[in-house]
Amino acid sequence: MNLSVVILAAGMGKRMKSGIPKVLHETLGKPMLQHVIDAVTPLKPARTVVVVGNGADEVRKRVAASHLTFVVQERLLGTGNALAVAAKELNRGPVLVLNGDGPLITTGTLRKLLTRHRRSGNALSFLSFADDSMAGYGRIIRDPGGRVSAIVEDKHATPSEKRKFTELNGGVYVIESAELGCLDRISRNRDSGEYYLTDIVNIVSGSGKRLDAYRCPPEEIRGVNTREDLYEVTEIMRKRVIAKWMKRGVTFMDPGRTVVHAPVSIGRDTVIYPDTYIEGETAIGRNCIIYPGVRICNSTLGEGVIIKDNTLIEESRIGKGSSVGPFAHLRPMSVIGRDARIGNFVEIKKSTIGHGTKASHLTYLGDAVVGSNVNIGAGTITCNYDGRNKFRTVIESGVFIGSDSQLIAPVTIHRNAYVAAGATITKDVPPGSLAISRAKQQNLKNWAKKKRLKDK
Ligand code: UD1
Ligand code: CA
Repeated sequence: MNLSVVILAAGMGKRMKSGIPKVLHETLGKPMLQHVIDAVTPLKPARTVVVVGNGADEVRKRVAASHLTFVVQERLLGTGNALAVAAKELNRGPVLVLNGDGPLITTGTLRKLLTRHRRSGNALSFLSFADDSMAGYGRIIRDPGGRVSAIVEDKHATPSEKRKFTELNGGVYVIESAELGCLDRISRNRDSGEYYLTDIVNIVSGSGKRLDAYRCPPEEIRGVNTREDLYEVTEIMRKRVIAKWMKRGVTFMDPGRTVVHAPVSIGRDTVIYPDTYIEGETAIGRNCIIYPGVRICNSTLGEGVIIKDNTLIEESRIGKGSSVGPFAHLRPMSVIGRDARIGNFVEIKKSTIGHGTKASHLTYLGDAVVGSNVNIGAGTITCNYDGRNKFRTVIESGVFIGSDSQLIAPVTIHRNAYVAAGATITKDVPPGSLAISRAKQQNLKNWAKKKRLKDK
């Protein structure tokens, strides 16, 4: 099948009251338009044309991919005009047309529609649904014989049409390319001044050609016109993803308060507490525990990892059996080995931490390479930045860093060395040595008594 796809994504989205083009508003971490593109890509269309207009450059930049062709609708004259603008880019054969603001559509439903279209020999097939609670959709008018004759937009429908015709237009069409000529015959709507793609239904029907509407689950059709819609659509998507992982053996303590993005994977017997956000291309292993208030983006967690309360993990990797948090921050490019402990108020940036290493309290490690079985005392800081450049700190395996130490990079603490508490380390420490850098302590006898006498 020589399939072409057109995604209409030029509209203003006035009802969103936004400076961002509507189709770029995100649902579950991805622009709505990207969800639509991702739903059609598995159909392997010969062409995928995206009609852009409002914020054209921004939209194009955000979703760009080599298999997409962008055409610009110069004046936003309605959905009929939008398809007409794309028409010259299309191959012969069926053309699947979708709205860029309907991110819940699934590949399975599109496949079914295409199959029905092919089997029926229709010139035009489209998706319909019935749901009283959903407002603002076109109403499908059928003649007394049940044949589709027109679509009337909700705002133009008379009260009697509204009562009589409860089948609504999903805005997803398969049109034979031979029928695209009908687009020239659509006239401007008198009230809105727009060319309605929906009028093609009336034209095809009037010409006596075969056409039909096919029911699909209402939730897949839900389009986003307002912020309220955006919330509802995101919520449906969120529930879909959580339900999928529950089926695969993941425990959610409060599924209503957990957000998991579509590309995430989670191993079985992992337990996820509420108010957690697992975002982007994150992979979580088996038997992990994610405690409340955690956000994990684009990161990989091995088996049995524990992330304690209120921790942020970005673009990092954590090895099997390690624990991170509470109140920790792994910034991008942090790699934590197996059985490591990253504790309270520890920030790690672009650093490698070896197996079994512990940084349990109040520490900053940036641009550091830390070996295995190292103990990093409370309050240790790698001073990696001189205001202009960043420098590396190397802490080899078996090292013990005493509390409240500053390591002025570039510097290396060699194997099994000790750094005494309160040190400011500016020079490399040889293997097995103890580095102390602090003024000798003096105790002034009876100092307090003398002070009191002086103060009198
Ligand atoms: C449209 C349908 C309606 C259907 C509903 C399903 C029309 C006239 N109405 O209504 O019957 O029930 O979708 O969601 O088609 N767009 C352009 N160029 C334009 C205007 C719009 O590209 O000039 C794009 C928009 O970016 C959007 C899509 O077309 O992605 C639909 O436009 P929108 O204004 O949201 O149509 P609806 O009122 O939702
Ligand atoms: Ca819409």
